[in-house]
Amino acid sequence: MSTTSLRDVAATTTSVHSTGVGELDRVVGGGFIAGSTTLLFGEPGVGKSTLALMSLRELAADATPVLLIAAEESVAQVAQRARRLGDVPAGLDVAASTDVDVAERLLRERRPTLCVVDSISAMSDDALGSTAGSVPQVRHVAERLCSVAKETGVALLIVGHVTKDGELAGPRALEHLVDTVIRIEGDRHGSLRLLRALKHRFGPTGEVGLLEMVPDGLREMPDATVLRGPELDVPGVVFTVTNDGSRSFLIEMQALVATGSGSPRRVAHQVSSQRLSLLLAVLESRCAVDTSDLDVFAATAGGLAANEPGVDVALALAVASAALDFAVPRTLAAMGEVGLAGELRAVSGLTRRVREAQRLGATRCVVPSDGELEEVPGVEVIRCRTLAQAIAVAQ
Ligand code: TYD
Ligand code: MG
Repeated sequence: MSTTSLRDVAATTTSVHSTGVGELDRVVGGGFIAGSTTLLFGEPGVGKSTLALMSLRELAADATPVLLIAAEESVAQVAQRARRLGDVPAGLDVAASTDVDVAERLLRERRPTLCVVDSISAMSDDALGSTAGSVPQVRHVAERLCSVAKETGVALLIVGHVTKDGELAGPRALEHLVDTVIRIEGDRHGSLRLLRALKHRFGPTGEVGLLEMVPDGLREMPDATVLRGPELDVPGVVFTVTNDGSRSFLIEMQALVATGSGSPRRVAHQVSSQRLSLLLAVLESRCAVDTSDLDVFAATAGGLAANEPGVDVALALAVASAALDFAVPRTLAAMGEVGLAGELRAVSGLTRRVREAQRLGATRCVVPSDGELEEVPGVEVIRCRTLAQAIAVAQ
């Protein structure tokens, strides 16, 4: 067998091609890699086909050869979809087929820069006995398409479905076959959509992409300023900043306490119910804020989950503010983890958090007494050792 000079190959191949969607580029580290296969999966209706079509449209508009293999919809249905997104560029070629032989032939003949297969569950190889969508079929079809992509240098994007309970019946079976796995997730009733890379052979996986479902498709949110509720000066609302990948998001934490009947309820939405329980115990034992007989509801406004410890203080402050009936100024943001002794613990990336809070209108930030923090102009930093001190400051 002959060998190849890696230098010659490296000099002649252009390996990365923008996906045409900035938030997707961010998650895959710049773009699709020629010859690689990316799996995009998520629940039905979350926006997989829309996102894939956005990418195809952008690339086609830029005269990049693209191809959509539509296995679930007719060409007319795809055309209708594309019109919903705006003008349909020339060069957006579609083939409606569920036959992997057809798909393979098209890839070899056309060699598009990007080929989308929507969805892998609807594709099949007749030679294989099992029905489309079964694990053996999905795996077999994906395997064939992956190797053709590798051989032809086509960047392949395959769409996969997943149901809430049957988590990843298909996609899990594919994870080891493909190079990159992207999940698109979002609250069914909300408009926010998050992109995350769960596996990435060619880059880091920590990045998050943000999109918003709007009537005519998905809108990119490079700047997430909409994660706030309307401006109401009510008790129980506290701002914080959470770090996710290289991004920082301002989050509005909301809490409500109410007199319940029977055993008190604790309802946590988009925040960790375990953290909420812990914080209620700390509030009671260390801060004399007793909610043991009350119903407590906690949530974020805007639909982004806040599950990391850095949002503890804000969550605890929101409950204290609701329980003690005082409104926290909207110009104050609070960041820090809360320990069982009622102490505030340092959190990572504090400077980044304070900067984002300042950018979005905070003039005062409650932060733990420990932890590195560069000076951020326009913000008064209030170092607190304990949650009780933070409550006193916020009042
Ligand atoms: P879609 O991208 O088809 O989701 P998936 O491929 O993940 O199943 O649709 C996303 C959302 O967009 C879905 O909630 C329905 C909505 N939608 C419309 O409102 N109008 C349309 O013409 C289409 C195609 C989708
Ligand atoms: Mg779809």
